[in-house]
Amino acid sequence: MNARSHAVFPRVNRAGWTDTLRVIMTIVAPTVAKGIIIRRPTIEHLAERQDWNAKAVKQMQRLKKKYGPAPLLLPIPFRPQLLLLDPADVSTVLQSSPEPFAAATPEKHAALAHFEPKNLLVSSASQRAQLRPAHEQALATADRLHPYSAHFKGVIDAEFLQLLGDIRSNRSGELDWPAFSQAWFRVVRRLVLGERARNDIKLTETLNDLRGRANWASAAPVDRRELALFHQQVGRYLSEPDKHSLVSRLPKGGEIAPESQVAQWLFAFDAAGITVIRTLAMLACHVSYWGKAVEEAMSGDLDRPFTRSCLLEVLRLWPTTPVILRQLTEDIKCGGRIIPRGTGVIILAPFFHRDPEFLYANRMDPSIWGPNDALPAAGLVPFSAGPVICPAHNLVPTVASLAVGAFLSAADVVLLQPSLAVDNLPGTLDHFAIRLRLAARRREK
Ligand code: HEM
Repeated sequence: MNARSHAVFPRVNRAGWTDTLRVIMTIVAPTVAKGIIIRRPTIEHLAERQDWNAKAVKQMQRLKKKYGPAPLLLPIPFRPQLLLLDPADVSTVLQSSPEPFAAATPEKHAALAHFEPKNLLVSSASQRAQLRPAHEQALATADRLHPYSAHFKGVIDAEFLQLLGDIRSNRSGELDWPAFSQAWFRVVRRLVLGERARNDIKLTETLNDLRGRANWASAAPVDRRELALFHQQVGRYLSEPDKHSLVSRLPKGGEIAPESQVAQWLFAFDAAGITVIRTLAMLACHVSYWGKAVEEAMSGDLDRPFTRSCLLEVLRLWPTTPVILRQLTEDIKCGGRIIPRGTGVIILAPFFHRDPEFLYANRMDPSIWGPNDALPAAGLVPFSAGPVICPAHNLVPTVASLAVGAFLSAADVVLLQPSLAVDNLPGTLDHFAIRLRLAARRREK
């Protein structure tokens, strides 16, 4: 057999059938049930009530104690998987992507076929060589501040000031996910597609429909008619892109299937919105963090390091990409074993992010991030790490910190629901159920 001569992992352990079944029942099934591509509100609610994530983390700890920290081979028929249990292996796998650890897996193909069949995430090595730079150019991956950040701030402030006005006039003064997300997706359409897309709710609805089907992966047939309609809707904004839209920064020409690339941006900004409302909820119950974030918001600066760290903390506590998947592109040798090409790799982020060895495991501590947005050696990878890291890992914290700031500079925020114990935060925070009271901000002397 043509296996790699050097060992990527010094050893691999093999799980018994009962433990494999337990992983499927307590880790894989709940993650899939919550909705991989679009969250299902009823299941998210159930997951919060029954604290599924905390249970999954406990299960992983048990496996690590029983088998040791080496990757654990789950002998699932036709789809064997290596479950990572040691942060050092997380770092190795992410650094060694996309070869020999490819990002494109059959699970992703099955889900993304419904709305972005030619996306970077499921591309071959040769397609990736062209697509990854296109994303990096448009999203300004290497720049802490995207060149359009000042424009982003204008859009974000305008949309959220209008939302704040609406909230104040409807007496309740309450902000919840339905109200927030409407304004958020206006922001997203303006930033991604340009001003003309502001009120194109139909486009977001079509995408959400397709995402609903994508949750079922290959268990649902692809709706070709709706997919074509969605790509046509996106295409309208690609032909003559608005000046400060992200689509205007895509390279012209080449075979990049832009509709499939842009679909990922529109989809992934949902996770950024979820992070914004959770961060507002967390700041509302952490007075000292609140004060620092307000100071940054009032300064008007585009770069807000402290608020960025708070957002990263929220992503550590409740990662919006709970599982990072890989697949071996070649056989590898591990101790006495050969792990065959095609074996999957599972990185369950909450397990590493909430390691009970960390004093801060279940608390919010923005200081742990320093200037970083990934700490792979500790297994803290909300945006992943290495060559396949989310190409929006700088853009998202910028846009999200401006969004948090738009609220903080104008209003005092009280968390009405849920009630949170700040020194023992829950494993799941259902964003659909968050309710905040916003009151006009009292200006200090
Ligand atoms: C809270 C918000 C977000 C989080 C936490 C996040 C996180 C991630 C993670 C963990 C991956 C997988 C990387 C891997 O497999 O190693 C990823 C991939 C990706 N993300 Fe994001 N993301 C977010 C928002 C966005 C946004 C808004 C965009 C675009 C505007 C975006 C574009 C992408 C793309 C294109 C990929 C595929 C990268 C590749 O395969 O090379 N993400 N993201």
